[in-house]
Amino acid sequence: MQKLLINGKRELSGSIKISGSKNASLPILAATILCDKVKLKNVPLVKDIFTMLELLRFIGLSATIQKKNGIIQVICNKKNIKTLAPYNLVKTMRAGVLVLGPLVAKYKKAKISLPGGCAIGTRPVNLHLFALKKLGAKIKIKNGYIVAEAKNGLRGAEIKFPSISVGATENAILAAFNAKGKTVLKNCAIEPEVKDLIKFLNNLGGKILIKDRKISIAGSSKNLKKNITHEIIFDRIELGTYMIAAALVGKRIILNKIDPKIVKKEIEILKKMGVKLKSNKTSIEILKSVEIKKINVETKPYPGFPTDLQAQLMVLMIKAKGKSKIKENIFENRFMHVPELKRMGANIEIKNKTAIISGPSKLTGAEVMATDLRASVSLVLAGLVADNRTIINRIYHLERGYELLEKKLKNCKARIKRI
Ligand code: UD1
Repeated sequence: MQKLLINGKRELSGSIKISGSKNASLPILAATILCDKVKLKNVPLVKDIFTMLELLRFIGLSATIQKKNGIIQVICNKKNIKTLAPYNLVKTMRAGVLVLGPLVAKYKKAKISLPGGCAIGTRPVNLHLFALKKLGAKIKIKNGYIVAEAKNGLRGAEIKFPSISVGATENAILAAFNAKGKTVLKNCAIEPEVKDLIKFLNNLGGKILIKDRKISIAGSSKNLKKNITHEIIFDRIELGTYMIAAALVGKRIILNKIDPKIVKKEIEILKKMGVKLKSNKTSIEILKSVEIKKINVETKPYPGFPTDLQAQLMVLMIKAKGKSKIKENIFENRFMHVPELKRMGANIEIKNKTAIISGPSKLTGAEVMATDLRASVSLVLAGLVADNRTIINRIYHLERGYELLEKKLKNCKARIKRI
């Protein structure tokens, strides 16, 4: 099994081009089921994207990748469509459940494997099913599968989500797009990735409006364009990860191909922590930090601080003077990086949903492993700032979501290699 080897304490300088967003690409790829021919630019070529393409091919779409420039072309020829998402393709990537909405909307039925739990929590799909039922689908759970049917097609409805879910909002939009009549979704997730999906569907010919947490979908989309091109939004989580890397060990790092307006919260928090940061329209420059200050942060749905950056920010908190706190409000079991960070020398205590980090602590390299994507990258960050050598096991988690991680860090003079 491959491992990452990092020799830490090396000052980084240079520039990094931020990739397209994995979490925006996945629902847009699911949306291609509703299209004829789609060209997607700026798709990050990471494991989760390959799994989604495999799922689309299984369903009967044709998907080709131009590896050199991250362009994916998907053609849905509507013949020989299987309305099935099997267990082996959904178990490694929960976003597979996003094909439920488009399949039921277009083909009136779908059988999708239940994704099951994962390392960061139970991760149910009840809110996805709640929305589909309101749109008229009959749903049963049978042998570990969601079996959904809408014999007469889906019908627009007014739906208020009892709590905010990114995936359920996306699945509901995808289903309502092809339903008869108007749908109004309330208490929606308004993550930039949800907005990118809406931009894609409107470009295709849809009429979707978004106001605060309310999304209106005209439905029965007719006269859709036969052929569209869409450029995926940048990955704000990858950007946040490198912003934190730069705050930890950067001399001067420039992060390109981004829009700082989308990461206002992250910029505000890093500035409060004393990180020297300048942004312009499409890039952020981070200079060597003098002193990192303590802070208290809570994870929240967008525009709040993202749960997907909680583990990475915790590494910066280890280097902050005093007691910092980070409360995880989104997932119940997302502190699995903590024991590994403690083995490297961090002083962290967990009380219910809150981690209390007393710093600054000196980190020393160790052999570590993590059980999810963002926890793994937090160990990379810890390795970059630690004394001596850190060995990271189970790097397949990183491959699920970080495009060219070693290359991007190496270009900035990090001593990192795969063994
Ligand atoms: C998406 C992101 C993931 C991110 C998460 C929260 C993708 C592919 N993944 O995941 O990286 O960490 O948003 O920003 O975009 N919930 C329910 N019932 C449901 C669905 C969700 O109770 O039917 C709960 C979850 O357990 C969790 C919370 O709602 O506690 C938010 O989850 P959700 O926003 O749905 O996350 P995902 O869409 O799975």
